[in-house]
Amino acid sequence: MGVAVRAEGCTKSFGAQRIWQDVSLTLPYGEVSALLGPSGTGKSVFLKSLIGLLRPERGAIFVGDTDIMRCTTKELYEIRKLFGVLFQDGALFGSMTLFDNVAFPLREHTKKSESQIKNIVMEKLELTGLLGDENKLPGEISGGMRKRAGLARALVLDPQIILVDEPDSGLDPVRTSYLSQLLIDINAQIDATILIVTHNINLARTVPDNIGMLFRRQLVMFGPREVLLTSDEPVVKQFLNGRMQGPIGMSEEKDEAQMAREQAIFDAGHHDGGAQEVEGIIPQMQAQPGMPVRQAVLRRKERVREIMHTLPHAAQAAIRESLDRNDN
Ligand SMILES: Nc1ncnc2c1ncn2[C@@H]1O[C@H](COP(=O)(O)OP(=O)(O)OP(=O)(O)O)[C@@H](O)[C@H]1O
Ligand SMILES: [Mg+2]
Repeated sequence: MGVAVRAEGCTKSFGAQRIWQDVSLTLPYGEVSALLGPSGTGKSVFLKSLIGLLRPERGAIFVGDTDIMRCTTKELYEIRKLFGVLFQDGALFGSMTLFDNVAFPLREHTKKSESQIKNIVMEKLELTGLLGDENKLPGEISGGMRKRAGLARALVLDPQIILVDEPDSGLDPVRTSYLSQLLIDINAQIDATILIVTHNINLARTVPDNIGMLFRRQLVMFGPREVLLTSDEPVVKQFLNGRMQGPIGMSEEKDEAQMAREQAIFDAGHHDGGAQEVEGIIPQMQAQPGMPVRQAVLRRKERVREIMHTLPHAAQAAIRESLDRNDN
């Protein structure tokens, strides 16, 4: 069963550079959540904070009932075993074969025999489509294969919490769909709490139960997928539609004057050819036939019903529609 992860009033700076402030959110146990945000807004820093690799200077982070910013080193070591993490760069050991990379956490954290380890490693390599590549070195395979090897490694300890940082980067669209399906199926099978950091609009629209977004050093929102997907926030709309028009600039946030000039051009009918605009909400991806029913979906329904009255109207309408359709 999954473990909830909760950030409370977290603020993180490096020296004088404030990355984000007063971030509070709960990754509900066993649900799939996604964190979006333009490059450099501190998504990876947030992910690393959740496992105690980086320390926000203010706030608290609870994994289950344990405040990982205040627990002992030994407790933190135990807590880390609950996690499977795919770092943005894959973080494979360059001098080890894929087999040894994937086997590493098992050799490090368990007393399993080499034959047990082999069974688990081969199963995860098969799951991620890498069977036959186990003797290759990370330098001998493609970027997408390295991503998948990192994912295989993140899964070997049967984690209760899975954090994946841009699992889709370097993957082609077809493999991204397979990967999305894999994450949903894993969630159905082991009810793990999952956080996906991504730039992938399609993945964000179809995979997570909950979505949040970091922008201008704040968590703009975090909640049921319908809230962000129906939001009128300019930054959210810009991001979901991959447009240039909006508050997100190439290297930094735009100032008010720049935004007003662009808005005028946009209003005059010149659209900038971003990704295809989508109206409404695409139904969520479901576990494949033969998989157990995703318990997260059932729990989320109850949770969402309770907080329904606190949500914006558009989100309420979308939630009602999905409850009626009963599509997941
Ligand atoms: N260990 C570190 N020391 C100092 N600054 C850091 C460190 N790690 C990250 N930063 C800074 O924190 C900011 C946020 O970085 P982060 O990698 O979290 O962004 P991101 O949202 O994941 O971006 P992307 O989408 O490009 O991966 C950046 O300005 C980065 O330079
Ligand atoms: Mg990042």
